[in-house]
Amino acid sequence: MSWETVRLDWDEDVATLTVDRPDALNALNVATLEAMGEAITEAADEDARALVVTGAGDDAFIAGADIAYMQDLSTTEGQEWGELGHDVADALEAFPAPTIAAVNGYAFGGGCEMAIACDLRVAAESAVIGNTEIDLGIIPGWGATQRLPELVGDETARRMIFLGERLDAESAAQAGLFGEVVSDEDLEDAVSELASRIAEKPAVAMRAAKQALNQRSEGSQTSGLAYEQRAFASLFGTPDQREGMSAFVEGREPEFE
Ligand code: COA
Repeated sequence: MSWETVRLDWDEDVATLTVDRPDALNALNVATLEAMGEAITEAADEDARALVVTGAGDDAFIAGADIAYMQDLSTTEGQEWGELGHDVADALEAFPAPTIAAVNGYAFGGGCEMAIACDLRVAAESAVIGNTEIDLGIIPGWGATQRLPELVGDETARRMIFLGERLDAESAAQAGLFGEVVSDEDLEDAVSELASRIAEKPAVAMRAAKQALNQRSEGSQTSGLAYEQRAFASLFGTPDQREGMSAFVEGREPEFE
């Protein structure tokens, strides 16, 4: 299949999903999320032995969920929006083979959440990552309240989510968000080498290893993700959400209640 804002490319058994909306720094809207879901299914159906996720252009991995789209959502629409993002993040997490986020630039909000739904993360040294939703009057709604503490520990996750901190690649690696930081020029080769090493391993054992690792947080994470979805949706329509997102779209500083 082909999509307007997502590409799926193959190098032998390694599939690469590229979010291709560089004019909006690869921000995720409904069509892009739906296309990501379809591309992930296609890569699984074609038995990819590794799946790389990255963003088009030099500036962004994924600058987040599309704020212009979100700014007027009702609570019900926020619920559907949360579910759509959750479905894509869950599909990455449940992908039968290992997934690698090649973080080539900004990874904020929903972009950070897509990166942390992958098994491994390799970053370019210019990458910047964070769960910045608080500054828009909402909370992370695509998995970070559950997945981020698993990765970086509770204190760091709370600081990132409470303060909306934007971490440079080195700081993020120290926090445990990135397994590897390489120069911008080397990112593609480093990810390709890692993906090839994974693809050469026995596929059935690799699938079992991933499934077993995923069991670790299964029960508590399922109820936590459901709670996150409800809390995320309930913030759409609040004065701070309207103000935070209008301020971004209008290019000014927000004034929260
Ligand atoms: N949603 C919608 N559009 C976005 C976007 C987002 N999350 N992030 C960037 N864009 C758009 C901008 O509106 C701008 O569009 P325009 O050219 O039509 O005006 C374009 O992408 C370029 O962004 P701009 O802000 O001009 O680039 P910059 O280099 O000055 O800043 C960022 C880059 C990433 C620091 C800044 O865009 C930003 O902070 N984005 C929001 C990040 C965020 O909070 N994401 C979490 C959402 S859940």
